Amino acid sequence: MADQTIFARLKEDHDKHRTMLDLIDKTHGDSDGREELFTRFKTEVTAHAAAEEETLYATMLADPDLRDKSQHSVAEHKEIEDCLEELEEMDFSSTGWLARYRTMKDRYLHHIEEEEDEMFVAAAKGLTRETEKQLAKTFEKRKPAELEMAAE
Ligand SMILES: [Fe+2]
Ligand SMILES: [Fe+2]
Repeated sequence: MADQTIFARLKEDHDKHRTMLDLIDKTHGDSDGREELFTRFKTEVTAHAAAEEETLYATMLADPDLRDKSQHSVAEHKEIEDCLEELEEMDFSSTGWLARYRTMKDRYLHHIEEEEDEMFVAAAKGLTRETEKQLAKTFEKRKPAELEMAAE
């Protein structure tokens, strides 16, 4: 959507992530779909986080009042990335995989909820509508490039 703000655009991705998380949760250890779905989720979330850092969080980082919030979210991205790497290296059919997956899932759901309820609200106070739309356009440009990099 041409007139979308960065917040609406990011929320759109978050909703997609929520759906993917539930789909993976329903897979079984021996199902082929688990690894494939997980790989798609990991690529998608890695690209989302990178493009989010290049747009919203870079802008927030430049504002002394929002710097701490920005750093908090970026640190969480790193934690989630580490969990995703760990899951990727585990045996997908092992009994421990789903338990570890659910820990990551809870963390990620907490992360995006905090972004929507706290980070976006704080950031919106300092941004003009024009900047919010401009950031969405930049995000839209960066996401495909980040997806390619994340898939490598
Ligand atoms: Fe994020
Ligand atoms: Fe996000």
